[in-house]
Amino acid sequence: MNYLSPSILAADFAHLGEEIKRIDEAGAQYVHIDVMDGRFVPTISFGSPLMKSIRGLTERTFDVHLMVEEPIRLVEEMAECGADIITVHAEACVHLDRTIDKIKEKGILASVALNPATDLSCLEYILPKLDMVLLMTVNPGYGGQKYIPYVTQKISDLRKIIKERELKVDIEVDGGINLSNVQQALDAGANIIVAGSSVFQGDVTSNVKDFRKIIG
Ligand code: DX5
Ligand code: ZN
Repeated sequence: MNYLSPSILAADFAHLGEEIKRIDEAGAQYVHIDVMDGRFVPTISFGSPLMKSIRGLTERTFDVHLMVEEPIRLVEEMAECGADIITVHAEACVHLDRTIDKIKEKGILASVALNPATDLSCLEYILPKLDMVLLMTVNPGYGGQKYIPYVTQKISDLRKIIKERELKVDIEVDGGINLSNVQQALDAGANIIVAGSSVFQGDVTSNVKDFRKIIG
């Protein structure tokens, strides 16, 4: 099953509630929430107060991408804010296994993100415990960047490993995805598509519908 996860980082924050309702009604199944700490990535975005105020607006899956150092500190808080999936960066966790256990203990789907240059080998032992892997297709920290082409090979390598090991793990791609390159990511084996600028720039409703036509 394929899903669209619009990243609200690219939304108009002055009208965030309306933007969220728009993506929901147009058929986006997830809401991608980028939490940034100004340390793991240079910028600060938003956190639990914002999540709390939008949780009541939609029943869609809250897909929380933690771009923070030692995200284990935030798992409890994110659970209280209604996160359905929590993604932590392998690069940001000293104790990745413990962090994943903590997410699962809260009854939340657990996911690991890898920066573009991080090797898939760091997933070898943890993969069977995961519900999803997020492959960054740009360097994390900002919306509106360009898709890094070498990650396409990484997506297919990961899909192959998941198949060979007979696991059931979703692959999410995040960064620089638009209507012209999304097919390439799907063909390589991604099934959850994050899109920020390409959803929120212009007509949000028709952008979501155009994505859904391709994604299914
Ligand atoms: C980047 C974030 C992304 C970003 C995607 O660090 O993780 O989710 O919002 O934005 P676009 O689709 O504009 O690259
Ligand atoms: Zn993200």
